[in-house]
Amino acid sequence: MTFHILRHNPQEPQSRPQMVTYEMDEAPGMTLFIALNAIRDEYDPSLQFDFVCRAGICGSCGMLIDGRPGLACRTLTQTLGEEITLAPLPAFKLIGDLSVDTGQWMRGMSERLETWVHGQEEIDLDRLEAPMEPTLAEEIYELDRCIECGCCVAACGTALMREDFIGAVGLNKIARFRLDPRDDRTDADYFELIGDDDGVFGCMTLLGCQDVCPKDLTLQTQIAFLRRRMIATG
Ligand code: SF4
Ligand code: F3S
Ligand code: FES
Repeated sequence: MTFHILRHNPQEPQSRPQMVTYEMDEAPGMTLFIALNAIRDEYDPSLQFDFVCRAGICGSCGMLIDGRPGLACRTLTQTLGEEITLAPLPAFKLIGDLSVDTGQWMRGMSERLETWVHGQEEIDLDRLEAPMEPTLAEEIYELDRCIECGCCVAACGTALMREDFIGAVGLNKIARFRLDPRDDRTDADYFELIGDDDGVFGCMTLLGCQDVCPKDLTLQTQIAFLRRRMIATG
């Protein structure tokens, strides 16, 4: 296999973005995680990339794989061609090579949308721990499967053009809290948060988000539903 990897270290003033080529033999069941570690071992220990769980859970290994956002730990090399191009996810601050700071972006989005249960002046454990209808719990759990990998943001033309756009990941979180009976926020409150071009009305239905989401979340359905609700509210 031949890997073409976009290398750049913004911490080093003399560093310039460049494609660097590495060659290696493919092994059965090889993932990009294994391949990148082998490249780091055999060629260059300074190659930067992120992995924690290696199981599609932590969301840290998102990168552009042949131009398409995806999780490197869940991508088998046998599903790709003999020439593989890797680059960092756009839309996020570059740390170095394939490593980007999705955490800073996700934190900003979460603080802006206040992605926590609202409305209870005092902690009411009876209410917080009240049994929930299993079907409702299932619906909330489904939306909570987001691992904040950032692939949907990197795949979204709107997010790349408008840095304040909250993206499908942010809209999915609002859909999740709207469902939660412990959250007292109303649609009017949500309208304040997402009823503009940086929110649900900025989405141009480009569908890249849903195409690349490694958790197969129904992002487009959630966004379309939220848009209808916000139109009714506004
Ligand atoms: Fe990743 Fe999907 Fe969550 Fe977007 S919605 S951050 S693609 S898991
Ligand atoms: Fe972007 Fe997805 Fe909307 S790709 S424009 S958030 S449908
Ligand atoms: Fe955790 Fe890939 S290393 S999702």
